[in-house]
Amino acid sequence: MGMTRTPLIAGNWKMNLDHLQAVALVQKLHWSLKDASHEFDDVDVTVFPPFTDLRSVQTLIDADKIPFGIGAQDLSEHDSGAYTGEISGEFLAKLNIGSVIIGHSERREYHAEDDRVVAAKTQAALKHGLVPVICVGETSEDLEKFGASAVPVGQLETALENVNADAEIVVAYEPVWAIGSGQAATPEQAQDVCQKLRDVIRAKLGNAAADATRVLYGGSVKSSNIASFMREPDIDGALVGGGSLKVDEFSAIVRFGKHVGV
Ligand code: 13P
Repeated sequence: MGMTRTPLIAGNWKMNLDHLQAVALVQKLHWSLKDASHEFDDVDVTVFPPFTDLRSVQTLIDADKIPFGIGAQDLSEHDSGAYTGEISGEFLAKLNIGSVIIGHSERREYHAEDDRVVAAKTQAALKHGLVPVICVGETSEDLEKFGASAVPVGQLETALENVNADAEIVVAYEPVWAIGSGQAATPEQAQDVCQKLRDVIRAKLGNAAADATRVLYGGSVKSSNIASFMREPDIDGALVGGGSLKVDEFSAIVRFGKHVGV
């Protein structure tokens, strides 16, 4: 059913680029893709800048009609109130932000976000019309103890509790050991886990959701390995960290279709 899903290449900038650098990168990326005659309808591109960049990037995208989505890197599970430093889904929706990363391993590790928090944030995103990009993945310890799929499957099962069958979601499989390490998973291993994650979607949300939901791979994705991931039937795109900060590299990743089969 892969042909029915538009690939999604998502750039998670993490804590990089201030709002001026953000505007410059988005402009250059757009020019780079236009110069390469990229067919924008064929691949969805979404950038996930830091919160302080969102307004500037949104204004630019709107003014110049740049066909990129914008997402946030996190949101609060609450709507408003005494939660110093947090950002509500309501505020993001007001800025026309379309999606939000939830449960990234860096949030799980440095901010003690457990599966309950990830499930609550997923609900908060959906409540405000934001597409949750739910991140799951095993650490190298998990990999040794339980294999590749048990932990991400369990994480996704919890996140999808109380999600409606018709909700739009994105799932990102990011093995923690592959993030920022230069050591990506093999396409076969990533496919195996992504297929099991799609099975979770099927069990929880039904066939239509399983067929429509994009499952991404993330972890040391580069222009030199993206095509091998995109050939796999259950991998519908990538969540790119370091490679999304360089215009030429991210542009080449978005244009993976030009080098599929290499
Ligand atoms: P890298 O692409 O830098 O490995 O990061 C992956 C990631 O964490 C994206 O969310």
